[in-house]
Amino acid sequence: MKIKNICCIGAGYVGGPTMAVIAHKCPDIKVTIVDLNAERIAAWNDEDINNIPIYEPGLAEIVAISRGKNLFFSTNVEKAIDEAEMIFISVNTPTKTYGLGKGMAADLKYIELCARQIAAVAKNDKIVVEKSTLPVRTAEAIKSILDNTGNGAGAKFQILSNPEFLAEGTAIEDLLRPDRVLIGGDGDAEGQAAINALVDIYANWIPKEKILTTNVWSSELSKLTANAFLAQRVSSINAMSELCEKTGADVNEVARAIGMDSRIGSKFLKASVGFGGSCFQKDILNLVYIAKSYGLNEVADYWEQVIIMNDHQKKRFASNIVKTLYNTVSGKKITFLGWAFKKDTNDTRESAAIYVADDLLQEQACIAVYDPKVEKEIIYKDLDYLETREPSDNKKGVVVFEDAYEACKDAHAIAVLTEWDEFKTYDWQKIYDNMKKPAFVFDGRNILDGVKLRTIGFVFQEIGK
Ligand SMILES: NC(=O)c1ccc[n+]([C@@H]2O[C@H](COP(=O)([O-])OP(=O)(O)OC[C@H]3O[C@@H](n4cnc5c(N)ncnc54)[C@H](O)[C@@H]3O)[C@@H](O)[C@H]2O)c1
Repeated sequence: MKIKNICCIGAGYVGGPTMAVIAHKCPDIKVTIVDLNAERIAAWNDEDINNIPIYEPGLAEIVAISRGKNLFFSTNVEKAIDEAEMIFISVNTPTKTYGLGKGMAADLKYIELCARQIAAVAKNDKIVVEKSTLPVRTAEAIKSILDNTGNGAGAKFQILSNPEFLAEGTAIEDLLRPDRVLIGGDGDAEGQAAINALVDIYANWIPKEKILTTNVWSSELSKLTANAFLAQRVSSINAMSELCEKTGADVNEVARAIGMDSRIGSKFLKASVGFGGSCFQKDILNLVYIAKSYGLNEVADYWEQVIIMNDHQKKRFASNIVKTLYNTVSGKKITFLGWAFKKDTNDTRESAAIYVADDLLQEQACIAVYDPKVEKEIIYKDLDYLETREPSDNKKGVVVFEDAYEACKDAHAIAVLTEWDEFKTYDWQKIYDNMKKPAFVFDGRNILDGVKLRTIGFVFQEIGK
């Protein structure tokens, strides 16, 4: 089966970049990305390519090549479903905020809605691809909805699991040259045909040996496992960072020493204020929930500790700022360099900065924020979402700057919360001269040269030293 027409439901951080790359690499396939969020779709269609809603290095260039040719953004979900032979579901799967599994399980209401909509619209057979990260055995539920709520047209459905492993900030590079592509499907002849149809698409630019095919459940669970392992490495080195601070060991030296062991490897070993992003915490909580639901309490407790450690690290960072500034930050200006959860993205979901700011606002600090890509409204929205205080108080407590030097002026301390490259190139002497003394820098991302900053006169503090 040769696919000519693809629909992707969800024009977010995954749907947008993945489909832009498929459209770019498969000019013969028409790719339509649909979303209920009209504002988001309008931004994807904005004449000025720099106004697309997601910032990722290389994304605007790739969208510009195919948009209007074989890549389309639309709010007409039904039409796109009707026309497509293959439908990717890339909608959000946040942690549930209500009912059974609240605070742990993945909320699958958006997924279910997609399945119902596909069933209602489909007049002919479709391959439905799970691109969103889903709990193991979700395909079963999708299949049941598709098979039992159809419109009577007799359409047949194949469900594939094709989790996305891209990392924000390097999404385009990850999509062009992935470590692997994973496709899970049924073992019968129809299942194999559906798998082959998707393999053929990826084979346009990805070597066949990097395209793994498995059963659906392995594929679904592999994505949760990958995120759990990655997050666990961050929490592991962060746990050691606290021990380093007490013992005089240096976490960077420890990380280098262990990273040279080929069994351990050097990546993801940087101590920091903690991981953020929309995925790690949500996916581990989901894993914990799944383990608990099978009665595997030891497995659940083991993975939950990764989250507990991450929360501890964020709290520890904030309380270290308070302690160091003579046990009070009340009325003191503290500047945050960075608000995004990592560099090269404008995504702030679960960013450590939000929680550190929340703690410092409780201590009556005056927070100044500079981030090169995050918009002011998002920063207030992130804080309001926590519901710790009235939105008007967040507005009073936090001032957002468009210039880093202005943001740092008259500050008592600077906290680096995102590892943006530009922070390393600043004129730190100039920043120091304009700060209150003694001037403190808390490097939550381990990116600045402490020796240089100490020479200038800063009191410099890095995690794990
Ligand atoms: N962000 C990442 O780095 C990343 C990486 C790998 C996997 N994932 C997974 O991919 C999925 C999507 O993540 P994201 O970051 O792109 O989310 P997102 O919130 O950026 O985008 C999801 C989009 O889906 C739309 N949507 C929801 N329900 C819809 C419906 N019924 N019809 C049409 N549109 C609908 C929303 O309006 C939203 O624009 C999640 O399951 C996530 O865990 C994310």
